Amino acid sequence: MKGIVLAGGSGTRLYPLTLATSKQLLAVHDKPMLYYPVSVLMLAGVRDILIISNPDVVPHIQDLLGDGSRLGLNISYAEQKEPRGIAEAFLIGADHIGHDRSALVLGDNLFHGAGFYNVLQRETRAVDGCTLFGYSVADPGRYGIAETDDTGRLLSICEKPRSPRSDQAITGLYLYDNDVVGIAAGLRPSERGELEITDVNQEYLRQGRAKLVPLSRGYTWMDCGTHDTLTAASQYVQVIQERQGVRVACLEEIALRMGYIDAEACYELGARMWQSDYGRYLTEIAHNFAAHTVA
Ligand code: G1P
Repeated sequence: MKGIVLAGGSGTRLYPLTLATSKQLLAVHDKPMLYYPVSVLMLAGVRDILIISNPDVVPHIQDLLGDGSRLGLNISYAEQKEPRGIAEAFLIGADHIGHDRSALVLGDNLFHGAGFYNVLQRETRAVDGCTLFGYSVADPGRYGIAETDDTGRLLSICEKPRSPRSDQAITGLYLYDNDVVGIAAGLRPSERGELEITDVNQEYLRQGRAKLVPLSRGYTWMDCGTHDTLTAASQYVQVIQERQGVRVACLEEIALRMGYIDAEACYELGARMWQSDYGRYLTEIAHNFAAHTVA
């Protein structure tokens, strides 16, 4: 399966924070926002990742993540020249996807929760058509909304409905079979001039090949697109990390635990950043991991 992180958009809802940098490079507590969606793909076992962003932002993301090799990943980059919609990711990423299936994650989405790794592993293996993830929210008018019957079967999908039929938001993580490239190519821009991801999902639904996996209240899903949600996400990460002593979306740690890099490589990555708590955390976990593995 191939991964895509869409980190485009002009971030206008975050002005003036995003006048001089991109939304996805802003901090969510101790790490750039982009770490959170990348961590989702890594936990799903997806190592071939295309990051799509605005032409002026791509070089900055390259400075941050490079070719991914230090995390045991293969990261490539592509430009989205104008904000022409989420579904354009499948046109820009068509060569990257090739004949494979794909996982798309939006660059401002944060997922966290015990067992999320298992959900990802199970669903990425099982994908046949499209798999969406639902999450109950208090403000359904802000999202794509899924309506299901009593058995959980998907009945309708609506983008930012005025009168939502449910409170199940469709999160910014989408799994697709290879048909997604053709479906995206056949889309027409919506009234706001964008290729809508909801239109892709509605086509799968029409074909009877769309599945919704509800994420229960034990999980956390946040997006960081406004000042309030960005602050809330930072506070969430800070509270959880301080309480538990482990880090959320720590890419180097995930690479180590997934077997993408060894303890020595993880230690080196931490040692380069020894001045920060984050760097020292990496050297510690690498040290403990090595000791545990030897024993
Ligand atoms: C987009 C999608 C929406 C989805 C949301 C998740 O909305 O269009 O269906 O629920 O991402 O973050 P946007 O954040 O671009 O307004």
